[in-house]
Amino acid sequence: MKYFILFGPPGAGKGTQASAMAERYKLCHISTGELLRKEIHSGTELGQKAKSLIEAGALVPDEIVQAMIENQFKTVKGVEGFLLDGFPRTIAQAEALDTILKGMEEEVSSVVAIIIPDEMIMERIKHRAMLEGRADDASDDIINNRIKTYHDKTEPLIEYYKKAGKFAEINGVGTIEEVRQKSFEIMDKF
Ligand code: AP5
Ligand code: MG
Repeated sequence: MKYFILFGPPGAGKGTQASAMAERYKLCHISTGELLRKEIHSGTELGQKAKSLIEAGALVPDEIVQAMIENQFKTVKGVEGFLLDGFPRTIAQAEALDTILKGMEEEVSSVVAIIIPDEMIMERIKHRAMLEGRADDASDDIINNRIKTYHDKTEPLIEYYKKAGKFAEINGVGTIEEVRQKSFEIMDKF
């Protein structure tokens, strides 16, 4: 099985690129953000816990997302691998993922990182806010918190996966098609 991590700051284009990647490599696309938004929408206990954190631009507790991922690994059948979009987002989550995969005699295939500058994050998310109305896209303050959370908690993963020899970076500034081609060049090797 292949286990790809689709990494990048908010608004980098992870969700935009995921469906073509999932289709080409027969992967199950798991976006922890999407799963959490579904829980909020359904009004579950988990959703209620996550709502205020997400709407403040903060991360939900590691244990919550780790359990979600483990559950997906156990229940999804008939795919050639997984595309993890927005997970892991902390060193603790990355270590937990390594442990979960080791328990299944598997490992991370590669991290595909789509990177854009902070100014472009703001621009893209504000544009999306007009189209989609996501609660965590609603104000500059929330978006700035998400950017800060990314730099503080998630960016250290770059070093973590570089050390493991599993980090591949794509410049996310370019057309959707250009970014897609560059990601295929990386993923074709696995
Ligand atoms: P999540 O849903 O994962 O949000 P995110 O990481 O902030 O990323 P986005 O979904 O905002 O951006 P994207 O990279 O998918 O960009 P998109 O393709 O939409 O997480 C939400 C929240 O859930 C987190 O803040 C946290 O609270 C919680 N959470 C989730 N996972 C967690 C975890 N593991 N641990 C703890 N908490 C967790 O593109 C953005 C816009 O740009 C779109 O309008 C798109 O059309 C446009 N666009 C895309 N590519 C291009 C391009 N090349 N050129 C021009 N425009 C483009
Ligand atoms: Mg997304």
